[in-house]
Amino acid sequence: MYETITLEKRGAVAVLTINRPDKLNALNKKVHTESVAALDELRADDAVRVLVITGSGEKSFIAGADISEFEGQTPVTQRDQFHDRTLFNVIDQFPKPVIAMVNGFCLGGGNELALACDIRMASETARFSQPEINLGIIPGGGGTQRLTNLIGEVRSMEMILTVDMSAAPTAEKLGLVNHVVPADQLEAETMKLAQKIAEKAPIALQLCKEAVK
Ligand code: COA
Repeated sequence: MYETITLEKRGAVAVLTINRPDKLNALNKKVHTESVAALDELRADDAVRVLVITGSGEKSFIAGADISEFEGQTPVTQRDQFHDRTLFNVIDQFPKPVIAMVNGFCLGGGNELALACDIRMASETARFSQPEINLGIIPGGGGTQRLTNLIGEVRSMEMILTVDMSAAPTAEKLGLVNHVVPADQLEAETMKLAQKIAEKAPIALQLCKEAVK
């Protein structure tokens, strides 16, 4: 039913996979629209207690916004596309816990999407960067705020201004990710964590998330 994502339900855990591996799962408009629709579907499904978001293939979680859609845009017209129902905000405000399962490149809007999730699990091969400034734009998907809230202004500033890519162990040290595991254990470890959370009382889970936010 969806073209750019897949949605799978494994008991109480739903897995949403961005499925454009030939484009390193870059976020185009269709991915945004379909993912928001999927989250709306999952929000209403009481059987789903936890959501895991990942990227298809072994190389990339999400390599950022789809650059091919930038043609003819200016930073200002791009800014105008951001609103309350962006995928980033919909994830942030999703009432159930969301885990990012970061399996490779986690760049730009990909990192912003991971930041909008509640917990980040990363494989040892994952790499993180906010490369927007190299394209003459800013991390407009909430990166400047969520990254700064998470790792602090000094580190966030350096990451955004230098575009330096952080390997998974550095990301863990920065507090950008919760856990780093070998690539071949990422799925099992993420599902174990998701399952553990899914067993908690659902309304309390929701209220805990709301209170922490
Ligand atoms: N938007 C659109 N397409 C993208 C993309 C993006 N953000 N990132 C990668 N792709 C596409 C490439 O164009 C290429 O497509 P093609 O095979 O049709 O030419 C495919 O994904 C594979 O990428 P490629 O660059 O060949 O892989 P690589 O291993 O040499 O490099 C990266 C990997 C991630 C370092 C590199 O793709 C990259 O820098 N991507 C852009 C990252 C970025 O700036 N994102 C932020 C946007 S705000």
